[in-house]
Amino acid sequence: MQKITIAIDGFSSTGKSTIAKRLASALGYIYVDTGAMYRAVTLFAINEDFIGENEDIPGLLRCLNQIQLKFVPNKELDRSEMYLNGENVEAEIRTMKVSEQVSKIATIAEVRELLVDMQQKMGKEKGLVMDGRDIGTVVFPDAELKIFMTASPDARATRRYKELLERGEEVTYEEVLKNVQERDRIDSTREVSPLKKAEDAIEFDNSDMGLEEQFERIHNLAQRVIDSK
Ligand code: DC
Repeated sequence: MQKITIAIDGFSSTGKSTIAKRLASALGYIYVDTGAMYRAVTLFAINEDFIGENEDIPGLLRCLNQIQLKFVPNKELDRSEMYLNGENVEAEIRTMKVSEQVSKIATIAEVRELLVDMQQKMGKEKGLVMDGRDIGTVVFPDAELKIFMTASPDARATRRYKELLERGEEVTYEEVLKNVQERDRIDSTREVSPLKKAEDAIEFDNSDMGLEEQFERIHNLAQRVIDSK
């Protein structure tokens, strides 16, 4: 059977990655979390002091060629983990320290060019589900199925807050809500590849929808497209 490319875009904390990962596993496809790639570049910038108090974006651009990103499967946890220059940074890239800076790093055209190029190479063979902000608009404008996920800021902040508490981070709901809203603002107003729904994407508001229902609906959509090939 012919394989397709599935692009899942949308606002932060809409549950894109949970659905994308499950869909990939059900279809036997590869799953790529492009947010993890922007997060890893951000962590690199933080560790090398290119962002934060002494911001030095030109310095970061000069070092972009030193950044090596790799998704390494972790069979025990049934997921792929992000490695930055040989080090497992999967947990660290999800911390608030990184979340607070990542939208800024994602506005840099050179960073986007580098990551989009890597993503297009990963998807050359099709048979993948990729989630992010610009997958259906920029990375794979010809993807056979495009989903655009939305949910209210409150629904998203509540999910993210629970996730962070489970990971032992000390944050308040208000901080998380502010971060979600601020990232929405930066992501959708940036000059390069702003977050927007591709014209041919199917919009999916999951504020009041459970995981099972979402999965079932999106899986059905995907199966229909695959069967039509
Ligand atoms: O999906 P996420 O929350 O892990 O993404 C982190 C940030 O990376 C998000 O604020 C915007 C940026 N991003 C992007 O600009 N383009 C992508 N394809 C994926 C993520």
